[in-house]
Amino acid sequence: MATSKVDGTSNGSVKSKDEEGTTPSIFEIDDSDLTRLLEKPRPLNTERKRSFDERSFSEMSITMSPRNNFYRTSEHSSRAFDNLDGVYSPGRWTGTPRSACFEPHPIVGEAWEALRRSIVNFRGQPVGTIAALDNSSEELNYDQVFVRDFVPSALAFLMNGEPEIVKNFLLKTVFLQSREKKVDNFKLGEGVMPASFKVLHNPVRNTETILADYGESAIGRVAPVDSGFWWIILLRAYTKSTGDTSLAERPEMQRGIRLIMTLCLSEGFDTFPTLLCADGCCMIDRRMGVYGYPIEIQALFFMALRCALSLLKRDSEGNDCIDRIVKRLHALSFHMRSYFWLDIKQLNDIYRYKTEEYSHTAVNKFNVIPDSLPDWVFDFMPTRGGYFIGNVSPAKMDFRWFCLGNCVAILSSLATPEQSSAIMDLIESRWQELVGEMPLKICYPAMESHEWRIVTGCDPKNTSWSYHNGGSWPVLLWLLTAACIKAGRPQIAKRATELAESRLLMDGWPEYYDGKMGRYIGKQARKNQTWSIAGYLVAKMMLEDPSHLGMIALEEDKQMKPQMKRSASC
Ligand code: GLC
Repeated sequence: MATSKVDGTSNGSVKSKDEEGTTPSIFEIDDSDLTRLLEKPRPLNTERKRSFDERSFSEMSITMSPRNNFYRTSEHSSRAFDNLDGVYSPGRWTGTPRSACFEPHPIVGEAWEALRRSIVNFRGQPVGTIAALDNSSEELNYDQVFVRDFVPSALAFLMNGEPEIVKNFLLKTVFLQSREKKVDNFKLGEGVMPASFKVLHNPVRNTETILADYGESAIGRVAPVDSGFWWIILLRAYTKSTGDTSLAERPEMQRGIRLIMTLCLSEGFDTFPTLLCADGCCMIDRRMGVYGYPIEIQALFFMALRCALSLLKRDSEGNDCIDRIVKRLHALSFHMRSYFWLDIKQLNDIYRYKTEEYSHTAVNKFNVIPDSLPDWVFDFMPTRGGYFIGNVSPAKMDFRWFCLGNCVAILSSLATPEQSSAIMDLIESRWQELVGEMPLKICYPAMESHEWRIVTGCDPKNTSWSYHNGGSWPVLLWLLTAACIKAGRPQIAKRATELAESRLLMDGWPEYYDGKMGRYIGKQARKNQTWSIAGYLVAKMMLEDPSHLGMIALEEDKQMKPQMKRSASC
């Protein structure tokens, strides 16, 4: 197999469009209406990163809520904002403190070292990070580079001024996308990205090859629908962070984006703009009742569509794709904001729904039977707050809370600013349930007894309050932190980060925790789980320097303003 030649564009040689004085690139089309966030732009003391830091800096947006203005009122304000002038630069972390004024938590250094140990090289180039470096339990596929797992690692490297590994990863995976993929005799779609890959060394011939898994080896043969979406999101993060538009502009990258778009925008029998999926198609990669229209996929789909829009070239091939994206985004945002959104008013409306309504005048459009409402949701729903529920399809509403989907909804601005605030209100008022002693619950609540048997197929790994079934996943901390900063509520993330910090290193960076409060290291949790390590680092770096948010958040598109009925949480 050919090694993708990495063109060696270093930090130093990356030039922004301004420096080069070229015509506006595709990069500029991105969320142009981002409002100014930071009151005092800080001079940067790292010359080599000047262009991209300034870019992220001015283009990001955080809505500072007057109620919870952490950066102005808390004791930590000096760290985040007051000392901006010349003190902090997200320069490369090599194990020693970056500046005299910056005192990282003692575990930050350990985390960086652990993250570096997880790096996987291919023919001398770093191309990703291994899922877990745990020799004490069976490897299974934890010795692979997972696309979704690499995202927090990639963000950590980008935030630390080390984009090379991210660039190599993006090139390697787009190459893997172009391979022919088969499960038994069935040929998969061209745009499918692998769930994971591993580097095989042949000591006799002294060669290295890459073996990718597109679902054909995965437990349950699950389809990695999220991989392609994360790939696009990461390509935008790389572009945004480095200012290097040349990677995204390469023909193979443009083709990669278009192929993913072709897969998810293809016409079918669907009556909804959401994406229909099989169970186990995302981070929850086992049977867990997340088939149909799971929130995680819908939120990632929305975000990937928006990122693709900002990355695609306006050329003959791109234009058709762009038109289709714009139309889909419009329909998708309306559908999600209207039908997936739940707050106390909406819950009460559903509770009183009439059924069997025919025609376009129906209020209960999906014919949800009020008797199917689970008891727990009435107690769980705070008077103030709301969230996007797990799934909506005919006669089915999955009321479970899923952390990743809700955080991505905030980051992508699928959630309106009011909805974002409502999600934050919910997290605050249901802290015990959603954060407990270890952030964060992957979903809430857990399924028990009969329901667990039916829905998971008696999965012994997904017993109540364990693993995907109500387990607590430290990796989700970075998503929570990014979402909190975007919603102007970073103090929530700070509180959660402190909780994680008190245990993660001591416990050996577990993959997940068990129990209603997340007090126990997961039954089958791997140790040295890379995304637990990277997720913590990303959360820390974003809290230290919120301008990092720009690479992973999208400002609201004014053209997608909701025509929604007023609701209690809004
Ligand atoms: C588990 C998780 C999945 C993750 C993989 C590697 O299968 O469910 O989300 O990508 O482990 O860490």
